[in-house]
Amino acid sequence: MIVDYFNFILTDTEATTHLGSLLGQYLKAGIVILLEGNLGTGKTTLVQGIGKGLGITESIVSPTFTLINEYTEGRLPLYHLDLYRLEPEEVAALHPEVYWEGIDVDSGITAIEWAERLPYLPQSYISIRLSHHNLHGRQVELSAVGVQLNFLDLTK
Ligand SMILES: Nc1ncnc2c1ncn2[C@@H]1O[C@H](COP(=O)(O)OP(=O)(O)OP(=O)(O)O)[C@@H](O)[C@H]1O
Ligand SMILES: [Mg+2]
Repeated sequence: MIVDYFNFILTDTEATTHLGSLLGQYLKAGIVILLEGNLGTGKTTLVQGIGKGLGITESIVSPTFTLINEYTEGRLPLYHLDLYRLEPEEVAALHPEVYWEGIDVDSGITAIEWAERLPYLPQSYISIRLSHHNLHGRQVELSAVGVQLNFLDLTK
């Protein structure tokens, strides 16, 4: 299993959107992005960037109450989950694997906010942990487990 690890800073909101947009442009169907990080660290912003990269024009808002939002107008479907209010047993009852296994849904990109609440993980995934950095900006710890990320040029 290939595991790539990157650690870098996103200096502003645009940088977070840009990272998401690159993921949305280049990722293949079936990829799961696990987003972790405290309140307000940029998880939804990153998913908005993914939507932009996929060519979704509809505005992406966090599915805090609906739990799951599906967007089908882009290059691939985007499934956006927010597990903030849930306990692991409640998450299991949602059957999130339906999205990454492509059971009864078209295979797409699945982005999960508060992924630390998942009781089990997919076999391969991209994990993005966001935290506050200094006064502004965000620190990112990105691990790609079984996923090739050679399109990502993090020097820009
Ligand atoms: N790299 C960054 N530097 C500074 N501010 C950022 C950065 N990325 C996002 N933000 C800002 O952080 C704020 C919170 O972003 P966002 O709503 O995406 O966080 P979140 O992690 O989804 O929050 P929640 O935990 O409530 O779901 C927004 O105002 C956004 O513009
Ligand atoms: Mg959010």
